[in-house]
Amino acid sequence: MEHRACLSPEVCKKLIDAGFQITVECDKNRIFEDAEYSAVGCRLVPGDSWRTAPSDAIITGLKELPENDLTPLPHTHIMFAHCYKRQGGWKDVLSRFSNGKGLLYDLEFLQDASGRRVAAFGFYAGFTGSAVGIDAWCHQQLHPGTAYPEITPYPNEDVLIAETKAKLAKIGKFPKVMVMGALGRCGSGAVSYARKAGIPEENIIKWDMAETAKGGPFQEIIDADIFVNCIYLSSQIPAFITQEQIDGERQLSVIVDVSCDTTNPFNPIPIYNVNTTFDKPLLDIETKNPKPLQLCSIDHLPTMLPREASNQFATDLLPTLMQLPERDTAPVWTGAEALYNEKVASMATTD
Ligand SMILES: NC(=O)c1ccc[n+]([C@@H]2O[C@H](COP(=O)([O-])OP(=O)(O)OC[C@H]3O[C@@H](n4cnc5c(N)ncnc54)[C@H](O)[C@@H]3O)[C@@H](O)[C@H]2O)c1
Repeated sequence: MEHRACLSPEVCKKLIDAGFQITVECDKNRIFEDAEYSAVGCRLVPGDSWRTAPSDAIITGLKELPENDLTPLPHTHIMFAHCYKRQGGWKDVLSRFSNGKGLLYDLEFLQDASGRRVAAFGFYAGFTGSAVGIDAWCHQQLHPGTAYPEITPYPNEDVLIAETKAKLAKIGKFPKVMVMGALGRCGSGAVSYARKAGIPEENIIKWDMAETAKGGPFQEIIDADIFVNCIYLSSQIPAFITQEQIDGERQLSVIVDVSCDTTNPFNPIPIYNVNTTFDKPLLDIETKNPKPLQLCSIDHLPTMLPREASNQFATDLLPTLMQLPERDTAPVWTGAEALYNEKVASMATTD
């Protein structure tokens, strides 16, 4: 299902104009066609050629390298390696770089001076999460009691928005959508989708820290039709919603947990514990109230709009990429290198 890319053709053009040389692997899965890259001056090479790239090439790609390969990595890589939070197999991944005398700049940890990530997919996670929530609610109205179908990626957001609008028009009423963490990246994306789908402002409830300061659970959540959770969970907080609440009277019939703190012991939505997937997007939550309650907890939502999500990510990353020639002094890059060295050193002292 993954079609996103780290560098968009538009961003490649800007880098090439600034003097970069960019080589792109041919790939039929990627949302951007090979020709879009060659049109802006990138050199095309066959897929999977990165292993034999010149030793001074910087290799960039979005996702993890294939598992079960322990070959040492001699290059500098810019990617999401998912090995800094001691994820399963983290030492196997990290030691490939140190064994090959390579270097990892992990995209998740490229941060500016205030500690904020320079590029993230949050906006389109919230945007598509909100789309799934509204669509699931429409499905409940139009085809009650039937299974919600699999989701496949959309070529662009206009197609998705048109689909939602047509369904809402058929139903003839708008749901009440509550977005939690509305001031953040994901939250602002969730609000943006609801607006673009034509949902009136009074039906979009936007909550952030100020509104939850009193502590949950919150009646306001079960009074909405759709709850889109977009908070960044950094400490233990009272639950937003409880089993007791959903067993009782409620309007709520769809939850989209964009935050996906699914297995976190402090998950503020402690009524489920598995992630859902694009081929089976919704989980039926058991409640004593016969009204359905379905939950989506897909942890790679931006894949649903690969073109917009990749364009936005690459655009946000561009100013930092422009500093690559000065990476020995530019704080984003020196910070990322220091973190890499720290994580490599920690392998000796951590299980
Ligand atoms: N499902 C996916 O595909 C996907 C993709 C990207 C990010 N995410 C996840 O989404 C979450 C949010 O990411 P982000 O980049 O939007 O973070 P962010 O820091 O930009 O925004 C988080 C927002 O949550 C608010 N918040 C935090 N605690 C709150 C509370 N107790 N009550 C109300 N509001 C609260 C913050 O004030 C902030 O406005 C992260 O957990 C991230 O991992 C999921």
